[in-house]
Amino acid sequence: MFARSREKERTMSFPHSSRTPGPESLMPPTRTRKRYATRVYIIALIAAIGGFLFGYDTGVISGALLFLKRDFALTNFQQELAVSSVLVGSLIGALVGGRLSDWLGRRKALICMGLLFALGALLTASAPNFSLFLLWRVVLGFAIGVSSFLAPMYIAETAPPALRGGLVAFDQLLITAGIAISYWIDLAFANAGMGWRPMLAVAAIPGMGLLIGMLFLTETPRWLAKQGRWQEAEQALTHLSVQERREEMVAIREAVRDTHHVTLGEFAHSGMILALVAGIGLAVFQQLVGINTVIYYAPTIFGFAGFHSASVAILATSVVGAVNFLTTLVSVLIIDRAGRRPLLLGGLVGMFVALVLMGSIFALGTSHTGYLVLGALLLYIIAFAIGMGPVFWLMSSEIFPTSFRARGASITTFFNWSTNLLISITFLSLAAHLGLPVTFWLYAGFCVLAFLFCWFIIPETKGRNLEEIERFWKQGRRWEKPESI
Ligand code: BGC
Repeated sequence: MFARSREKERTMSFPHSSRTPGPESLMPPTRTRKRYATRVYIIALIAAIGGFLFGYDTGVISGALLFLKRDFALTNFQQELAVSSVLVGSLIGALVGGRLSDWLGRRKALICMGLLFALGALLTASAPNFSLFLLWRVVLGFAIGVSSFLAPMYIAETAPPALRGGLVAFDQLLITAGIAISYWIDLAFANAGMGWRPMLAVAAIPGMGLLIGMLFLTETPRWLAKQGRWQEAEQALTHLSVQERREEMVAIREAVRDTHHVTLGEFAHSGMILALVAGIGLAVFQQLVGINTVIYYAPTIFGFAGFHSASVAILATSVVGAVNFLTTLVSVLIIDRAGRRPLLLGGLVGMFVALVLMGSIFALGTSHTGYLVLGALLLYIIAFAIGMGPVFWLMSSEIFPTSFRARGASITTFFNWSTNLLISITFLSLAAHLGLPVTFWLYAGFCVLAFLFCWFIIPETKGRNLEEIERFWKQGRRWEKPESI
């Protein structure tokens, strides 16, 4: 789609190209800039379908479960398996996805994931028995695990620095859209009496969208450079960028030179271990603050709070899904101006307050518990969606050097899914043994630890190109020049 006009635009954008520059190349190229901006947004949108499927395939199970339970006569343990099978697949995907995307390239790996999403959706939807259902959910989980870090990383490696935050946060926006839409689709098919199969099958459509969309996009300049395919890397960068990104090519060359393959050991000794600590810390804290107790168990929490009708609980959950999406949209719009740290730190304060409130409401057991809990949950989701939600995936795709980016992101993603699994499978037991107030206060305690961690360890990467960020870690957490944007 974009490749045909490439040569023409290159000549327009670079006055020192081989052809004689026209007057257009000497003026501030507003139209050209706009066209490039539109292009990078479309690219981000296509790659972020991976995020949409992550949200959809994790969210859809909450409604599907009611029907699966009926059709396959599931025990409680089997229901837990139905929910966690996808998390197990995601863990495996996160573990091997880094190597896969280093080997195949970011683009081809995402194409394969599109195929897997589409096939996985059709196979789970048509599973004749529960064992096959579980198997296909693990396969789907694999695609989720890989694309959960690969989609934002693809965007980070193609985005111009000034827009990178918002573009990568687009992925989180589509995760939340996927979650919200899955609730509504569940509701629609449930009301139509059509059961769980169509709920799962519709995900084949965005799966095909990812596959077909990625076929039209370019490989990232950074992966091409890492393979030593300099000319193609330069072409890709030119195709994606306006004039000043020539500097970026020089930076990529410097960053990639002599570092074609870095092992974990070499990486750890290169002075960049703190980048890994920062990534893993964010990954773990993003889950320890308890987000998926809300995403996976919101109807149950509303049930505890006195919303005894299932339809009211599901409706309240849909409101949570919609607020999650809308707040993430705000974050996408402001993250490149506001910066990562203010959103992250401010969001953690908001989550802390909301969790303390939630615990206190359950502890006091007032007569209006249901609405108060809804209010506290909304405050919580707003605070998560503005900061921790998008900022973790953004940072995990931008804080590692090109030579280690895929594996670094894959490691942090592995920790994220592991902690997700831990929190999701312990929530109900914690609530039963410690009580709901203490459980929520425990998550509030993790917010305090997360705040301290982010305050001391996480740098502000707003407006920096990926190579500047790389040098920041290499030089002992020092920026070379003042913030450029
Ligand atoms: C988290 C998911 C969570 C989602 C909620 C993502 O950033 O990684 O675990 O379900 O946000 O919006």
